[in-house]
Amino acid sequence: DAEIQVETTDVIIIGAGLAGLYTALRLNKNLSVTIIAKESISDSNTEQAQGGIAAAICKDDSTELHKKDTLSAGHGLCDEKIVEQVVEKGPEAIEALLEFGVPFDTKEGELALTQEGAHSCRRVLHASGDGTGRVIRESLTARVLELENVRVLEDTFAIDIYTQDNISRGVLTKVGHRYKLILAKYVVLASGGAGQLYKNTTNPEVATGDGIAMAYRAGVNIRDLEFIQFHPTALAIDGAPRFLISEAVRGEGAILLNNSKERFMEKYHELLELAPRDIVSRAMAEEMEREVSEYLFLDLSHLTEEKVSKRFPTIYKTCHQYGIKIPTQPIPVAPAAHYIMGGITVDIEGKTNVQRLLACGEVTSSGLHGANRLASNSLLEALVFGGNIADVINKNINEVEISSKFSISETFNFNGETKPREIKKKISKLLWTYAGLKRSKEGLQILISKLEELMEKINVPTEIEDFEAINMLQIGILLAKGALIREESRGGHYRSDFPQTFKKWKKNINFNICKEPWY
Ligand code: SIN
Repeated sequence: DAEIQVETTDVIIIGAGLAGLYTALRLNKNLSVTIIAKESISDSNTEQAQGGIAAAICKDDSTELHKKDTLSAGHGLCDEKIVEQVVEKGPEAIEALLEFGVPFDTKEGELALTQEGAHSCRRVLHASGDGTGRVIRESLTARVLELENVRVLEDTFAIDIYTQDNISRGVLTKVGHRYKLILAKYVVLASGGAGQLYKNTTNPEVATGDGIAMAYRAGVNIRDLEFIQFHPTALAIDGAPRFLISEAVRGEGAILLNNSKERFMEKYHELLELAPRDIVSRAMAEEMEREVSEYLFLDLSHLTEEKVSKRFPTIYKTCHQYGIKIPTQPIPVAPAAHYIMGGITVDIEGKTNVQRLLACGEVTSSGLHGANRLASNSLLEALVFGGNIADVINKNINEVEISSKFSISETFNFNGETKPREIKKKISKLLWTYAGLKRSKEGLQILISKLEELMEKINVPTEIEDFEAINMLQIGILLAKGALIREESRGGHYRSDFPQTFKKWKKNINFNICKEPWY
């Protein structure tokens, strides 16, 4: 137990990626808004997004076609109405970003569009070549920092949503060694994904799934955590981070080769290297298994050095930094966990089942992605839902009061010997082994019992990394349970013992209310 400071704000937004920043920008300027970021404002999955943002803006494209591609990538689990509304708002979302000063790349005076997997035409806008997320984040951060009603608290960790009577009242945070309760009229969860659940991931270190875990503990409905998107092409060099090699590189014609330097995707799908990600990643896993190899190759030797360094400056620089002289040398690549399709169940307004707790971005399961997200649809989702959430708050906040009565004391009921932070690596290795690209009943049962055993062994959290480890454990168990229950293969969930897709599983797996809170 620790002494807790208390302060108030109208709206608290957890997360400073695109979803959080855009929500803040769209809120009325007479509202006091607090954005909290676990580390610096630049540590988010938004920052890492390379390929870009999808929107049907070109004359050969249509929202109908964008919808069709999204539904087809989602393998039967998208919510058609949500998809329709999101893709229809695509062009206006791009307009909004242009108004906020995002310098998208252009070609011959028009917005430049690239191709990515499972899109039936060029539809993906980009900025600074492969720096799309960073550039969008920089433009929006600059605008947020100009606003007098918004404050950004960096190095502030959200531990839990504080609820009373199924209404969210604020957020318990940790700043250094101090605990602070920030009371608010509305709480917006925009805390991003959970790639760190896996040993190999394209996600930054902050992506430990905290938002999903804290929502679950607050009684929020969670669903479909078993659907994990493994990006086919992450840099695979010992000792180097699994740096993303954008799908746009394949969109510009790069091909995958196995260790015998043979192109192999024709064996797996007619769209070859641009088939949906789950198909490309599994095809790669199969080739790697057959060759007993840890990586394959991405060959972009058909492109000139000038083109590569201009179009993909970050990838060019990073590869050269690790001694790979692209485009003449191929890039060693392997799949890595990239995006979690499941999460907090929200409606089109970003509402959860807990009152005044809204959520947007990767932390949610909105119905847009279904069992597999179409490339570059996530930045679009963040914008559409961020805007919708701001509309809900702007409209209703005058009727809401900050609760002045509160009583809070976090007592953690862990009695083991191990510091939770010491098992973070172990958790991500276990998930990678047993809940990675291929899963089975036997492996998932082992995983659940090993994760539950770890839960028994840990003691009270004191550092941020301890809280992160507990969050990872908690959602790791839910993910494994979902994967065990779903006896079929679909999108980002593949069971070697149930390789087919079954009609009876064309449904969500819901983890409704957290019946046994973990503290
Ligand atoms: C990429 O550039 O390949 C990533 C895009 C995405 O995940 O949407």
